[in-house]
Amino acid sequence: MIRTILTTAAISLLLLTNYYQTQSQPLTEFEIWQQKHQKMYIGEERIYREAVYQTNKQKIESHNKQQERTYDMGENQFMTLTQDEFISLYLTQVDAPELEFEEEREQVFDGAEPLKFVDWSSYSTIKSQGQCGSGWAFSVSNSIEAWYGIRGGRNISASTQQLIDCDTYSKGCYSGTNYNAMHYAQQIGLMNSMSYPYVAQQQGCRYNRGEFRINTYNFVGNQQQTLQNYLQYYPVSVGVDALNWQFYSNGTFADCGQNINHYVLAVGFDFGYNWLIQNSWGYGWGENGSIRLSPGNTCDCLNSPQNLNFL
Ligand SMILES: *[C@@H]1O[C@H](CO)[C@@H](O)[C@H](O)[C@H]1NC(C)=O
Ligand SMILES: *[C@@H]1O[C@H](CO)[C@@H](O)[C@H](O)[C@H]1NC(C)=O
Ligand SMILES: *[C@@H]1O[C@H](CO)[C@@H](O)[C@H](O)[C@H]1NC(C)=O
Repeated sequence: MIRTILTTAAISLLLLTNYYQTQSQPLTEFEIWQQKHQKMYIGEERIYREAVYQTNKQKIESHNKQQERTYDMGENQFMTLTQDEFISLYLTQVDAPELEFEEEREQVFDGAEPLKFVDWSSYSTIKSQGQCGSGWAFSVSNSIEAWYGIRGGRNISASTQQLIDCDTYSKGCYSGTNYNAMHYAQQIGLMNSMSYPYVAQQQGCRYNRGEFRINTYNFVGNQQQTLQNYLQYYPVSVGVDALNWQFYSNGTFADCGQNINHYVLAVGFDFGYNWLIQNSWGYGWGENGSIRLSPGNTCDCLNSPQNLNFL
């Protein structure tokens, strides 16, 4: 199986290299994009994907001409996907069976002292979820990674694959939620991702145990100031509506609805109270893998923030 995949990969690479070497004309933009993202389409598929690429390119160009825009769009790895394909491959379906969780307790801070901007982004690394709707799992494994870096004084990487394979409240690459994943990490614990590496697809559960076991997790609350307050200590996993994030490149984003279909890690907020959000679509997407969201409940980010603790 593995060997077949490797052989196929080697042949594709060879074809790809040959293909470009035998071209005498300069490469088109689409060909340059294909090379950069190691994609090769042939026949009908190539005609179709090039058309999708061109449509997306026009969408990006017309967005970037708007005078009033707060963010720019840019070309990235999603250029040959329609929005429907993007949704089904990278976002989470929100029909996961809900776990009963504790009464939502909301601490409201009186706001006497304005909270200072904070940025924990250097304590967790940007991951690539691949063609798997596993943002919910990365959001939680990254929040464990950040906790260890900040409070535990250790540089760790907690297994995301284990959540995809073993959290029975979620449905692997298809759907999941941050609180169910935290429940798993509390009951069972997560292995190191070196021992249980990421493969971007659901497999059978290989190990139902782990050294990174959280003590508690809790709903943060729906107030901007409550989330800001939690962020003073460490990052918080949040659900978001990422439907329109496909070509986000840089700037402050607010062009979104209120239906959670993805999970990410809030790592702080800036002096303008924009949320600093780490995503799991690689460094090539957004601002080096991150997005800045406007203050308040932008993209529904205040709907389901979950905090975890090891103490
Ligand atoms: C995005 O980045 C480009 C290049 O750095 C910059 O010129 C542009 O102003 C930025 N756009 C926004 C909306 O911040
Ligand atoms: C943590 O370890 C990873 C992998 O070894 C490394 O890339 C990263 O720079 C380290 N981070 C810190 C904060 O030491
Ligand atoms: C991305 O990272 C590079 C290298 O660390 C840095 O120069 C650049 O300013 C960063 N871009 C953004 C938008 O943060």
